[in-house]
Amino acid sequence: MSGNVHINRRRHKYSERELMRLARRKKKAAFIRRIGRDRLINARRAFYLICLLLLLIVGGVFFSQGLKKKSPSGDIVKYEHYVSNDMKHKADLALTVTPSPTPTPLPDVSGIDITLIESRYEPEADVSGLERINFDKLGNPADIEYLKGLTKNGHVLEIIKGTAFADGVLIVNKTFPLPADYIPAGTYLGDLSDVEYSAYAVNNEAYEAYLKMKEDAEAEGLDIHIASAYRSYHAQSDTYAMYERRDGTAGADTYSSRPGHSEHQTGLCFDLNSVSDEFADTPEGKWIDENCWKYGYCVRFPKGKDEYTGYKYESWHLRYVGTELAKKLYNNGDWISLEEFFGLPSEYPQ
Ligand code: DAL
Ligand code: ZN
Repeated sequence: MSGNVHINRRRHKYSERELMRLARRKKKAAFIRRIGRDRLINARRAFYLICLLLLLIVGGVFFSQGLKKKSPSGDIVKYEHYVSNDMKHKADLALTVTPSPTPTPLPDVSGIDITLIESRYEPEADVSGLERINFDKLGNPADIEYLKGLTKNGHVLEIIKGTAFADGVLIVNKTFPLPADYIPAGTYLGDLSDVEYSAYAVNNEAYEAYLKMKEDAEAEGLDIHIASAYRSYHAQSDTYAMYERRDGTAGADTYSSRPGHSEHQTGLCFDLNSVSDEFADTPEGKWIDENCWKYGYCVRFPKGKDEYTGYKYESWHLRYVGTELAKKLYNNGDWISLEEFFGLPSEYPQ
């Protein structure tokens, strides 16, 4: 080591050769010292890099676990975002989702043909926004927190905190919106408060029924899959805005719901396969049309029922209503809409 090399010029006279040898030895020692230092630096760098990589791996695992849930069938499924035929739309949607506070839409039932049975006001109850309901035919709007009436077809219509039910079946259409903060419970993905779009967030019971339907279709060699299911109020707001930009308000209103008016916010419906007009003519589309009622689903916007539903035919959009009602709506192959069955309108307030 260089520390042991001691040159005592007084006691010993070095020859030229020795001096050169000693200089070479010194140089070598310095070189070794430098290498040692460089190695140390490199070792430190490698250590930091490994730590960073480990951190990234652990973080990635945690993140992906957070996005995964088990379906009732036990499969691990991932949150999937809204699937549009046009992937550009998907990108547009992803960019424009804005979870800002939005006014709660409320049903305007002033023009509805209904026989009032009961209306109640409970001051201590949470009446968020209900004072804005316009019941000019039925009573003092400010006094109504709960309303019960009979539709023109003799079915019971209830409006509970701004949400409409016909014979206990949740109704969402152009007349009856959902509150902006309505988030479905009972989905097998659990709490949806942070979810904007999902191809899987359907109600537990509806999802079980879907799995059975899918399995039976598969046994016949058919491929049924959900393309789009839950959409939050804000997601629907962006979806509708996109279509409105493209086709204008009147055009968009024929096939897309304004925010708060879409069944996709309920967790009780979904769009299948291609989400396109072509679906009706595929073997899958035909099978769904003939069989979905057996699993409690209805074709929510049947062919030729625009004047009742307010929307064009959507062969791909199924709504879960339970087997009893679905059978009635199937009507031996001549689908009737929820609106016709219950005697309810589907029109946006003017
Ligand atoms: N396409 C249906 C009507 C919706 O937007 O909910
Ligand atoms: Zn749909």
